[in-house]
Amino acid sequence: MVRPSRLSPLGFADDAKPICYVNGKRYSLPLGRGEATLLQWLRESGLTGTKLGCGEGGCGACTVMLSHWEGGRVQHRAVNACLCPLYAAEGVHVVTVEGIGSVRDGLHPVQAALANSHGSQCGFCTPGFVMSMYSLLRGVAAEGREAPSEEEIEECLAGNLCRCTGYRPILDAFKVFAKADAAAYTAEAIAAARGMAAAAAAENSSTPAAAASNGTPATDGTAAAAAAANGKMVCPSSGLPCDCGGGVTKAADAAGANGAAAESSSSSKAADGTCCGGGCCAAKANGAAAAAAADVKPSSEPIFPKELKGRRPAALRLSGPLCTWYRPTTLEQLLTLKAAHNDLKLVGGNSEVGIELKFKDAGYRHMAAVTHVPELSQIKVTDRGIEVGAGVTLTRLQELLLQQAAKQPPHKTRGFAAAAEQLRWFAGRQIRNTGTLGGNIATASPISDLNPLWMAFGVVFRLASQGRRVREVPASKFFLGYRQVDMAPWELLLSVRIPFTGPTEFAKEFKQAPRRDDDIAIVNAGMRVRLEQRPAAEGSEEQAWLVADVGIAYGGVAPKTIMAEKAMAALRGQPWNKATLDAALVALREDVNVAPTAPGGRGEYRNSLAASFLFKFYVHVCLAMEAAHPDSFKPQLPAGYASAAAPYHRPPVRGVQFHHEVPQATDGSAEVGKDYRHMSADLQVSGQAQYTDDVPLPPNTLHAAFVTSSKPHAKLLKVDAAAALRLPGVVGFYSAKDVPGDNMIGPIMHDEEVFATDTVTCVGQVIGVVVAETEPAARRGAKAVKVDYEDLPALISIDDAIAAGSFYEQYGNSLETGDLEAGFAAADHVLEGTLKLGGQEHFYLEPNGCIVLPTEDDEYTLISSTQAPTKHQIYVASTLGVPMHKLVCKTKRIGGGFGGKETRSIFIHCAAAVPAYHLRRPVKAILDRDEDMQMTGTRHPFQASYKVGFTNDGRVTALHMDLYSNAGNSWDLSSAVMDRALMHSDCVYKFPAQRVVGHMCRTNIASNTAFRGFGGPQGLIAAEMVMERVARHLSKCPLLVRQPHLYKEGDVTHFGMVMEGCQVIPCWEGAIESAGGWQQRREAVDAFNQQRREAVDAFNQQHRWRKRGLALTPTKFGIAFTKVTYNQGGALVHVYTDGTALVTHGGVEMGQGLHTKMAQVAAHELGVPVSKVFIAETSTDKVPNSSPTAGSASTDLYGMAVLDACRQINERLKPYRAQAAEKGWSFAQMATQAYMDRVDLSAHGFYATPEVTGFGGPRPFNYFVFGAAVSEVELDVLTGDWQLLRSDIVMDVGNPINPAIDIGQIEGGFVQGMGWLCLEEMVWGDKAHPWVRPGHLFTKGPGTYKIPTANDVPIDFRVKLLTNTPNPRAVHSSKAVGEPPFHLGSSAFFALKDAVYAARDAAGLSGWFQLDAPATPEKLRLACGDELAAPYLEGKEEGWRPLMSC
Ligand SMILES: Cc1cc2nc3c(=O)[nH]c(=O)nc-3n(C[C@H](O)[C@H](O)[C@H](O)COP(=O)(O)OP(=O)(O)OC[C@H]3O[C@@H](n4cnc5c(N)ncnc54)[C@H](O)[C@@H]3O)c2cc1C
Ligand code: FES
Ligand code: FES
Repeated sequence: MVRPSRLSPLGFADDAKPICYVNGKRYSLPLGRGEATLLQWLRESGLTGTKLGCGEGGCGACTVMLSHWEGGRVQHRAVNACLCPLYAAEGVHVVTVEGIGSVRDGLHPVQAALANSHGSQCGFCTPGFVMSMYSLLRGVAAEGREAPSEEEIEECLAGNLCRCTGYRPILDAFKVFAKADAAAYTAEAIAAARGMAAAAAAENSSTPAAAASNGTPATDGTAAAAAAANGKMVCPSSGLPCDCGGGVTKAADAAGANGAAAESSSSSKAADGTCCGGGCCAAKANGAAAAAAADVKPSSEPIFPKELKGRRPAALRLSGPLCTWYRPTTLEQLLTLKAAHNDLKLVGGNSEVGIELKFKDAGYRHMAAVTHVPELSQIKVTDRGIEVGAGVTLTRLQELLLQQAAKQPPHKTRGFAAAAEQLRWFAGRQIRNTGTLGGNIATASPISDLNPLWMAFGVVFRLASQGRRVREVPASKFFLGYRQVDMAPWELLLSVRIPFTGPTEFAKEFKQAPRRDDDIAIVNAGMRVRLEQRPAAEGSEEQAWLVADVGIAYGGVAPKTIMAEKAMAALRGQPWNKATLDAALVALREDVNVAPTAPGGRGEYRNSLAASFLFKFYVHVCLAMEAAHPDSFKPQLPAGYASAAAPYHRPPVRGVQFHHEVPQATDGSAEVGKDYRHMSADLQVSGQAQYTDDVPLPPNTLHAAFVTSSKPHAKLLKVDAAAALRLPGVVGFYSAKDVPGDNMIGPIMHDEEVFATDTVTCVGQVIGVVVAETEPAARRGAKAVKVDYEDLPALISIDDAIAAGSFYEQYGNSLETGDLEAGFAAADHVLEGTLKLGGQEHFYLEPNGCIVLPTEDDEYTLISSTQAPTKHQIYVASTLGVPMHKLVCKTKRIGGGFGGKETRSIFIHCAAAVPAYHLRRPVKAILDRDEDMQMTGTRHPFQASYKVGFTNDGRVTALHMDLYSNAGNSWDLSSAVMDRALMHSDCVYKFPAQRVVGHMCRTNIASNTAFRGFGGPQGLIAAEMVMERVARHLSKCPLLVRQPHLYKEGDVTHFGMVMEGCQVIPCWEGAIESAGGWQQRREAVDAFNQQRREAVDAFNQQHRWRKRGLALTPTKFGIAFTKVTYNQGGALVHVYTDGTALVTHGGVEMGQGLHTKMAQVAAHELGVPVSKVFIAETSTDKVPNSSPTAGSASTDLYGMAVLDACRQINERLKPYRAQAAEKGWSFAQMATQAYMDRVDLSAHGFYATPEVTGFGGPRPFNYFVFGAAVSEVELDVLTGDWQLLRSDIVMDVGNPINPAIDIGQIEGGFVQGMGWLCLEEMVWGDKAHPWVRPGHLFTKGPGTYKIPTANDVPIDFRVKLLTNTPNPRAVHSSKAVGEPPFHLGSSAFFALKDAVYAARDAAGLSGWFQLDAPATPEKLRLACGDELAAPYLEGKEEGWRPLMSC
């Protein structure tokens, strides 16, 4: 409780002792930390379950629940702890992931559901998902509702990103809490509902009885609880005891032993068993039953602390060295503060201020929370509308608008409904839960989603100041310029008056962003019109509906939100018809005229969106008038035009997975082939899984921050660290001159400097490192280092490099087969073209980081987030000049890698090691998200120039390709990436003659690097784009053109490898079968076309402004490192006398389930349950000289190595096994006996892949993995917005070691591939984007770089594994699965292109068109070529394509 013992005249407590509760425990908040966030403090306090993924509110990894007392009851809300000011938690109950369940005490039902459904892979995002879901359930229970809807569940996850899973398993896991589907209604849902309800009752009651039940696990005597408590099976559907084998038990191993299911889908039913009639089988197929389920904590919830109930918050003043934090509790206090401090920064939800503090170097000495001022939270309903306090949160505002829409006659609340809908797409739930109405308005962002609505809807802003009357300003006059408003420094926004609409008044919201969920608009708009029936023209008798009043406002088209005055003038007084619309559209071109290279770019698109929105509004009003006034309003819309105004609808995601568990023993001992969930799942869902940033630090640890280049290419004239060294807490600055060993590094070529010496060659290159006692001090120090440069010419794009002839000349690889000249001569057609493929940021949720721990005599331990510990050992040792045997690199797990943590993390480790060496103190370096994205490289952007010859019937006779990659400022792995691109440029097609030549461009961006697929996807899609062009050129079915080219058994690829075990056609046919039905190969495509194609065509016929598209893409992916040396792996297996085994191998667990599979292999071989095998970490002192965990090859390599080690131990145990059988010994007894007899129970295993030759030889790959996918999309022609309606994937993964994990990789890979090609756009400061600083990456955080969200995954998502395709060339006949599915995301790309063809067809355009990747809404919309877009493309040359960084 704050003790107001010494009050200032204003009533602020001077010696306040701020408190909060965390997970039911009382804490005193530290003083003097006004600038700190809740996340910083939680993590400093050891609660590291809450993760730092981005620090800007964009990833949700830091989600916690805040509960406070308001309106006589407890309110719960999910918030981003990274944006929540520490002192905003004063008097609040903070619930973190640790507070709701743990492995030891039992998982909370939400945690258990996620773990059981394979919903965590790397696990870094997982606590955030758990807390979003948990907060929703608590909120629903507090409202007295039984369950949220499935839509609510998906919506509450919009602010949480996952880069691994593809979301489907997460959605499946949480869907059960909606209890909408009996087949998915699990014990977890039952337990959670009971717990939440009990907690809600207890929290909101003050009776002793209810309070006494706080925190006590419910033993409610229900059948479900009793059964669970007794370890009996519980039907997931009915919650009743049941013996049909599909339920959840408390006993850890019992359910696991129960796991072998026949081929099944998540909607299938078991064939036998005394089923209680529930949905056991569905849960079983989901992996819930087969998993080794941990205890589910039935219903214990952290209860709102008694002390906080009914507590009246006091006015606070908390002063500190950097900032004084005020929390006024009256308007008078706030206005007095405002008058007293010119520099007072008001803070609502901190979602703007927090960003300014972190990323824009803002510092505010006085900050005042507006959250506790009652006048700012007031809501008044009058007969003219509503008045909403400026401090009302966006969530509350949305609720209020919807409540009013439900209460009032519908016509009165059209503006409210529009604003509520706009809020649905405003940020994620966490931001809306704290962000305020006033904060949004006062920020005056030109892309605010709400301000255009307020301006168009005639809203009035009310401003308060001390000693003056409240001033009212119409919203349409409030915004003066870029982030300038009509508000004096002494004023604040008090409230907002939103009027009702009249009976013939219509209002609508519009927003188009790169991504639908949680994204900032490219263009948005608010539109309102009031029609009146009057004589159409002077003297005319005819009555027409004329525009009596109109408001049209746009965001995203100028430095401020604007009213479209010219367009409004063209509408005023005119009849609501097509002629008026046309005139308004012409006038609009004067209002909205964004130059192509204006800040934000995309000029043509933004202009066309403005027109599209107006057109949509016109259609919307026509439809509404036709319905409301059928007698007097003449229908004016041509057939199919209603689709322009079709409301967005997205049903909940449904997933089906078909697979076959293949236990490889019949005696029940098999552990391989089963659906075990991720070994760390329980730790991940409970926040206990430790990542590098979570490791407890020794007391004398220093923190590092990097001084990096702000120039893409420049001479370093002077580096002056004097000012930095004077700052409190800063301990030292280190640069190239301080490197004790070798300053040169590089995995293939030694062409990189750890610290730049004379010249910098990219923005973000490390010049030096500052170390300090705290991380903020280190960052302040790094910013204070002054660097003088002399600019040199910089090359950013592939085009720049080609023009300047800037290549890595030592690379000269190419491949050629067949007679190209003859092929071109035999062709009926020869076409040439160039396609562009953008880069892709890895966006692993855990940024790169390390801790360097010096121990005695120049020994070092490196705790690292790398996927290549040995490489890091090598280069850190060489930088420090110490032998490798004195430096151990350890990696427990990493929060995603995808190739980005193989080599591009090396320089960070090396740089951090230098101060550790000199100071002999531990040094920790964790990159911020924006630093990581700027510094560490991405998937290589590619350009492919091609020449293809083909016959009239679509047979390719010759194909030449030049592949150009943007390698960046160093060689890194670019040659190996290009080699793989060359070898995949045939996709699955046998071309009689093919030549492909690789060129690595040297540019001044951060060196690009490995990324899932490692160049393969770039080669694969280049071939697909060529095939698509051939088909479209000939107006033939793309499938029928592709089909005759498909590889068959025995075919030889263009690099000379014979196709063995070729599954191209089974996957192709399997995908067609899954998606549409077929009989025989030839007929397959016809049947598919009949079923799916005809349905798509019929839809397109009926809808002018929405088009569907359909596409199938196949894949083949070669498995093996093309550097032969890397095709080796080691493992170390220890068996202990208690019968457990500790396995260590050279691979890193990064979410792909490698450790789980290795444990299965070891358990299977040793004949013990998988629960007896543990894998602690990857460490270079246990298994030396390991290859990077990359290339999908780790299961193959380490699986065989583990097998080898186990077999050695088994060999030594042979005599004891014989005795064990006789004497009934357990494995532990057998091991003990062997130990007593001095038998070595430890073995090192090793494997080297036989026969592989590397690039240039006849077997560069050990084998191929095959797959195919069919996708269907729906495109909004007017905006480029789209939805992925359905995807069917078929993959050949041999006999999977763990089918559930493989399916997780397939779904995750598919969604990531789809993201690369359809969503994720990188924007560099290059010629195409002069508004970005040269060489700087604009898209360096989740705010600007958009990976898929749960809203982007296929609504109907089906995955099938081919059965009976054992692979003789890998462990247990399995196949690698990490990278191969990635390319299948291209089916969405080609489906989108197919939809654009339909739109072009409707616009009278025919023939092939170029679509570069990513197929952003901008590219899609501008390609549709209709009359609304045409004016904005006037004067463009034939073949014009939107600008992109490449
Ligand atoms: C991840 C993320 C996603 C976002 N998505 C969207 C989006 O989709 N659409 C969109 O429009 N915006 C978006 N934003 C921007 C932001 O969230 C909103 O503008 C939000 O409404 C700001 O409210 P706040 O209370 O958090 O503002 P704060 O950061 O607390 O304050 C913002 C500014 O307003 C001032 N201020 C606050 N209250 C008052 C008052 N009563 N009187 C005068 N000045 C005041 C503050 O001093 C400050 O200058 C997003 C931000 C983030 C971080
Ligand atoms: S870390 Fe807070 S949202 Fe990303
Ligand atoms: S499991 Fe979600 S980011 Fe890795």
